[in-house]
Amino acid sequence: MSKARVAILISGRGSNMEALIRAAQASDYPAEIVGVFSNIPEAAGLETARAHGLATAARHHRDFPTKPAFEAALEAQLTAWGTEYVALAGFMRLLSAEFTTRWQGRLINIHPSLLPLYRGLHTHEQALAAGARDHGCTVHFVTPGMDEGPVIAQARVPVMPGDTPETLAARVLTAEHQLYPEALARLVRGEVVFPG
Ligand code: GRF
Repeated sequence: MSKARVAILISGRGSNMEALIRAAQASDYPAEIVGVFSNIPEAAGLETARAHGLATAARHHRDFPTKPAFEAALEAQLTAWGTEYVALAGFMRLLSAEFTTRWQGRLINIHPSLLPLYRGLHTHEQALAAGARDHGCTVHFVTPGMDEGPVIAQARVPVMPGDTPETLAARVLTAEHQLYPEALARLVRGEVVFPG
């Protein structure tokens, strides 16, 4: 079986990255992780990726004069890895319209809310403040607008009495780790395509 070549972009802890790495270790998983890129050289997830024997690269966005210059370096690394798909996993930089358009249909993200609810940061605080009865996570195609692209898959979790942002985040994160590998597999198998 020829496997789709997936690069993962992170900025921090990398628990979703590790969920993808672990899923891809299964012989029947349709994708392989070809490398992990971070815009934060100290990101803990880079060490995790290396512990799994994966190639890593780190380029701090602040070391580049412009976003296009940073993205050119990112693009060069993706090319060097023979990347076919890109999975954002806690990658905290907004990518340009040029980049997202070039990768349209092959660039996905996981967001900790049931989009279109609660775009941006602090989604668990937002859900609690709204009095939500349920909450969850979304895997979506990345388009130029933040957290706006077409939805690929969602997982729902209940909001429990007494939940804090931390307890709710932990429940959502468990769902994220299940959802992201499933959604990536569906994408690379061609079971889901960018609409239009
Ligand atoms: C996750 O909640 C993800 O949905 C969001 O950022 C967080 C990253 O966590 N985009 P991790 O780095 O995958 O542990």
